Formats: sequence, structure tokens, C-alpha cells
Amino acid sequence: MATYGWIGLGNMGGPMTANLVQAGHTVRGFDLDAGAASAAAAHGVQTVGTIAEAVAGADVVFTMLPKGEHVRAVFGGEDGIWATAEKTTLLADSSTVDIETSQHCHDESAARGFRFVDAPVSGGISGAAAGTLAFMVGGEESAVADASALIEPMAGKVIAAGGPTAGIAAKICNNMMLFIDLMAASEGSQLAEQLGLDPKVFWEIVSVSSGHSWAQQTWYPVPGVVDSAAANRNYDATFRTDLAHKDISLALDAGEKTGVRLEAAQLAHRRFEQLIGEGYADKDCTLIVKYTSPDGGAPGWDGTGTAGTESSSETTGDAAPAETRKA
Ligand SMILES: NC(=O)c1ccc[n+]([C@@H]2O[C@H](COP(=O)([O-])OP(=O)(O)OC[C@H]3O[C@@H](n4cnc5c(N)ncnc54)[C@H](O)[C@@H]3O)[C@@H](O)[C@H]2O)c1
Repeated sequence: MATYGWIGLGNMGGPMTANLVQAGHTVRGFDLDAGAASAAAAHGVQTVGTIAEAVAGADVVFTMLPKGEHVRAVFGGEDGIWATAEKTTLLADSSTVDIETSQHCHDESAARGFRFVDAPVSGGISGAAAGTLAFMVGGEESAVADASALIEPMAGKVIAAGGPTAGIAAKICNNMMLFIDLMAASEGSQLAEQLGLDPKVFWEIVSVSSGHSWAQQTWYPVPGVVDSAAANRNYDATFRTDLAHKDISLALDAGEKTGVRLEAAQLAHRRFEQLIGEGYADKDCTLIVKYTSPDGGAPGWDGTGTAGTESSSETTGDAAPAETRKA
């Protein structure tokens, strides 16, 4: 049995650590958010008050944080991972970050005598809960092999992506495809409804036809069709809009640097920007379905933001008023 240090016990880190505990490992976790920490404690994580306590004596330390800036702070801070962990501890970042942040983590870890892998994941919170996440791991071969063994209780598949930052590069491309697919699932679901199709029957047809995708399978933006869809829970986030916006921005940055034209990704990016502008950064990214429906509502949505308050559509000006509309 291994000892894991874990920083970031949110939507993903929470269920991922639950699976480690379930597999008999010791997990010492730290999160700035008391609610996230107590939820993790309830499933057996030993929650602590500092990064130093979380990483002490750990075989491996994972970070599962929102953005690159959080990862840089948690690794490089005065009392951060590099300052407090033992050099024998393997370091792994599973957050979705920009390639530069990941390269920085590889370079600084090596300079300080640590082994580091980028180990982002795909599969959403349903995959995290089920222990079926796909991990794409980048780094030196032996570090990737050691990390893969420690990842196993959380994963359906672990793929060695290549050298340093190869995992994060794969993740950025994958998520760009995911959010383009989400646009397709949004538009398809709404058009099907307007054409009088039963949502469940249409979903079943697409599931065995050429329009199927992970977004359609897992996030179908109509309530009562797929359990894992946020549409069943008023679009409370399983994948926050601001994080989706971050991911697609990372792809657009990479496209700009490499000269790849990413027009479909630009459209998805604009939609997330619109949602954030209207005050829905914390809602689920599948709420972009509201831009496809004739009345500007989203099926299963009561028109409120995260705190249950009516959000304004004045910021962007081009969104129709939100209304509840059941499928
Ligand atoms: N939600 C998904 O479906 C999904 C899927 C794959 C990858 N991801 C990626 O995984 C990462 C985490 O996503 P999430 O959905 O769990 O986000 P989240 O916001 O639910 O969780 C992040 C947690 O990090 C904590 N945190 C932030 N700064 C901290 C710090 N300095 N020290 C300690 N804790 C800190 C927050 O309090 C929060 O609990 C993101 O990079 C996201 O893009 C998310």
C-alpha cells in the first residue's frame, strides 16, 4: 500500500481520492476550501491544513487544481511542494494546464532533484467516481512507469503519451474535440426536439449511429436521458464553464503558435465567453445549449446562476432571456 499526498479535492480530486482510499491506500489531502476538504474526509482522506503535512512521507504527490497559476503557486510557493516534499517523492500534476506551466514544472522539478510527470485525465466526474479515467502521462520513461502503477486505482486506461508535456498536449487536443462535440450535441438535441423527436429515442439512435460522441453519451443536455448530465440538476457544474473556457483557450493558444486554424474551437470559445459574461462561470459548461434553443432557455434549467440568483444577459446583449423549459 502506498501513501499519497493530494492537493485539490474538488469535483475531480474528491472522487479520485475516494478510489485510492477504497483500494486501501493512505491519502493525505489538502484543499483551501473547507467544504471540499470535509467531503473528502467523509470518504476516508486524512485531510490536513498545509501542503507540507500533505506531502510528508508520501510516495507520490498529485495536484488536481483549476489552472496553471494554481499549480505554479502550489509547487513553487514558500511552503509549497518543492520546498517541503522529500526528493524521493514522485510528483504528478493531473490538472489541465498550459504547456508552458507543465514544462516549468518538469524543468524546476528536475533542477531541484525531483521526478515529475504531467498526468492529465479524461472522463469527467463520472469517470473519476467510477475509477475509469483515462490518464495520459508525459515524462521520463521510468517516472512514467512508476506513476502509472500508482495511478492504476483511479484509471480505466493509462497511456504513456511520450516525453515531458506530451500528456498535457494530448489533453489540450482532446478537450478541444470534446467541446466541439458538445456544440454538436447541443445543436443536435435542440433540432431533434423541434422536429418532434422523443429525446430518449433520439439519444438511443445517435448512440449507435455516426453522431455519437462522449459529450452526447455523458453530457446530453436534456434532462431525463443520461443520469450523468448536468441538465438533470439545473446545470450545477460537473465541469465548470470557466474551466471549459480555459481548456479551449489553451487549444486556441496552441493553434496560434503552430499555425493550425481552429474555427470550430473558436466558436465554442465564444459561447463559453458569452456564458461567463452573463454570470454563469460556475455553472456547467453544457449550459451553452441555451444558445441553440429557439427561446434561449435550456431544458431543465430554472434560469438562475450558481447561487440561485437570476443572472443578467445584458453583458453580451445577444442572448435571449433564460426560461425553464422541460424536454
Ligand atoms: N471536472 C471535470 O470534469 C474535469 C475533467 C478532466 C479534467 N479536469 C481538470 O481537472 C482540474 C480540476 O478540476 P475540478 O473540476 O476538480 O475543479 P474544482 O474547482 O472542482 O477543484 C479544484 C480544487 O482545487 C482547490 N484549490 C485551488 N487552489 C488551491 C490551492 N492553492 N491549494 C489547495 N487547493 C486549492 C479548490 O478549492 C478546489 O476544491 C482542472 O484543471 C480541470 O480542468 C476537470
